[in-house]
Amino acid sequence: MAKLTALITGGLGYIGSHVTKALHQRGWRTIVVDTRGNPQPSKYVDQFYAIDIRSDLSAPMESNQIHAVFHLAGLIDVAESTQYPSLYHHVNVGGTINLLHFMEMYQVPHLVFSSSAAVYGAPVPGYDEPLQQVFCEYHEKDPVNPYGMTKWMAEQIIKEMRSVGIDSVCLRYFNVAGADPDSEMGENHECETHFIPRILAQAASVYPLVEIFGNDYETPDGTCIRDYVHVSDVAMAHVNAVEFLLNNGPTASFNIGLGMGYSNREVVQTVSALSGVNLLTRFKPRRAGDPPALIADPSNAAQFLHFHPQYELTDMIRTAMKWTAQGTA
Ligand code: UFG
Repeated sequence: MAKLTALITGGLGYIGSHVTKALHQRGWRTIVVDTRGNPQPSKYVDQFYAIDIRSDLSAPMESNQIHAVFHLAGLIDVAESTQYPSLYHHVNVGGTINLLHFMEMYQVPHLVFSSSAAVYGAPVPGYDEPLQQVFCEYHEKDPVNPYGMTKWMAEQIIKEMRSVGIDSVCLRYFNVAGADPDSEMGENHECETHFIPRILAQAASVYPLVEIFGNDYETPDGTCIRDYVHVSDVAMAHVNAVEFLLNNGPTASFNIGLGMGYSNREVVQTVSALSGVNLLTRFKPRRAGDPPALIADPSNAAQFLHFHPQYELTDMIRTAMKWTAQGTA
């Protein structure tokens, strides 16, 4: 049988590069579209196009028969989205609409979209137990930051495309962390805002001081709670999602998390224990746009996508430490 061809937007990014590797290893031909020019040659990328998702995407679509698009390109910084909401809408919503236009034109039938737990927002008083916040897919959508709103808007627009023959799976990632267990790729953002890589950078510094944003949340220790999921498990969720669509699975959204949360304080303690570095902490005011607790109910992903995560928080920290120590981060 001829190889299936995947077009991966944002395929040079942190999650995108892991998705590209997972697809390639599963036998897909991989075509990456990314704005980052001059990519490091990767054995997992069969073709590369340096294109912005808001521009003309006919080049990769015209010269290949694409069986599925994996849309991961976008802006991802929650706090930044509160400063530049229109930019976030332009890239995340506008870029998605543009991509859908080209998928429709070239009759690409399947889409796996990188969505986010940020679509849910804050606990609903009287409905949710704030201390045991677990979100299932049909929970009310009330994003508390523009980033989450762009993902929720994009999801709804994507679902409209069923009528023109584009079936989709939206994967609502919770907090993605860790690095490729073979250390071939890892988290490498230009301006790092994510908690675990920031803690690891401090652990490697002369005066290891971690800043924790907010200690007055309605959580057991006053700091935010997040559900961390390993990036390689997230990558496998994409492979499983496209196989679900190829087997005639319907358009749907799924939570991608472990179903358990760690407070910011607990994450710092775990890094301290694993690295052997005594990390000092300083509490800062709350960061704009942060919901107090985000924990997935991943049971639908387990049932329908056969999503069974292989890694836990200690593995995420260990693989990230190994990647960071290698000096490529
Ligand atoms: N944090 C600190 N200090 C830091 C950095 C972060 O205390 O130096 C805190 C944040 O305030 C938050 C927690 O660590 O409470 C996690 O923050 P991240 O920036 O690592 O991740 P977010 O929860 O803001 O966002 C991530 C993704 C989003 C996704 C969300 C879903 O970036 O794309 O998880 O849970 F929507």
